[in-house]
Amino acid sequence: MNETTALVLSQLLTGEPRSGEAMARELGISRAAVWKHITTLRGLGYEICSATGAGYTLTLCPDALHAALVHRYYLPEMIGKTIISLPECGSTNAELRARAEQGAEAGLVLTADEQHTGRGRRGRTWVAARGEALLFSTLLRPLLPPSELAGLTLLAGVAVAEALRALGVETRLKWPNDVYIGGQKVCGILAELSGELDHTSYVILGIGLNVWGHPNCSQQSSTCLADHGARHSRARILAAILQSLEHNLSYLTAGKLAVVLDKWRALSNTLGREISVSTSTETFTGVARDITPEGALIVALKDGQEKVVAAGDVSIR
Ligand code: BTN
Repeated sequence: MNETTALVLSQLLTGEPRSGEAMARELGISRAAVWKHITTLRGLGYEICSATGAGYTLTLCPDALHAALVHRYYLPEMIGKTIISLPECGSTNAELRARAEQGAEAGLVLTADEQHTGRGRRGRTWVAARGEALLFSTLLRPLLPPSELAGLTLLAGVAVAEALRALGVETRLKWPNDVYIGGQKVCGILAELSGELDHTSYVILGIGLNVWGHPNCSQQSSTCLADHGARHSRARILAAILQSLEHNLSYLTAGKLAVVLDKWRALSNTLGREISVSTSTETFTGVARDITPEGALIVALKDGQEKVVAAGDVSIR
């Protein structure tokens, strides 16, 4: 959708009838141009009635992710101020990385209705059918070195869990950042960092949330929001997550990650449970005791020793 089509859409989102003449005046275009943008919107699934004398009225909005729809719910200061919505792409993380390399500004969000090569953690793929999931990536340019960013991935989980709770969905977090409803995964998060040892160039935070449906082929039991009676538009959910992300990131920038990690502890479904851990070098079992101030998992082994896991997969036994 081009910028003027988006402006026409914003004018209609009030739900009140808008005359072609008034919109043309406000946007500085001709009435014929307004009509062309209305036709484009109809082609995108927006139902717009036109009545002589009354003008155009938006009667049905598709579950789309355009900025104008998201910004109805939340006007971000930074995260999601600019939103690029693609109908499809390989991976939103890869698309956003290309823009980051070209100098895109921090806070840029890129969404897609469909991904062909969605990426998951530890080299896995992330499958989602068209329109069923909320798939997006956010560009961050934190002024912290990579060594101080380990907690960022837990922070992202907290942000999603809190946003969904605000929308009435009871969520829990499995270390490091999987969002669960009951015993089933509803959302996965992939943080990819670019930089040097002492300097972070950027972080791409990719989030895949099952909204209307979920893949059957996933290795683990999954669910979607609709299965739990949550029937919010993807734009509304995205707005809630961006707001929560912006809020939680402010703790990180203020050097108060500990506040977020305390929230993670309270939301965790992992701590105190018997778990199996698989890292790139080993697999072992134990009881999840706590997380370190950096967000690594502390596991108590049977022999009384403790292991600290910075990266790995956890399954709850
Ligand atoms: C996981 O393995 O749990 C993380 C999955 C992350 C998937 C999301 S979907 C949007 C973004 N783009 C990608 O290619 N991956 C992430």
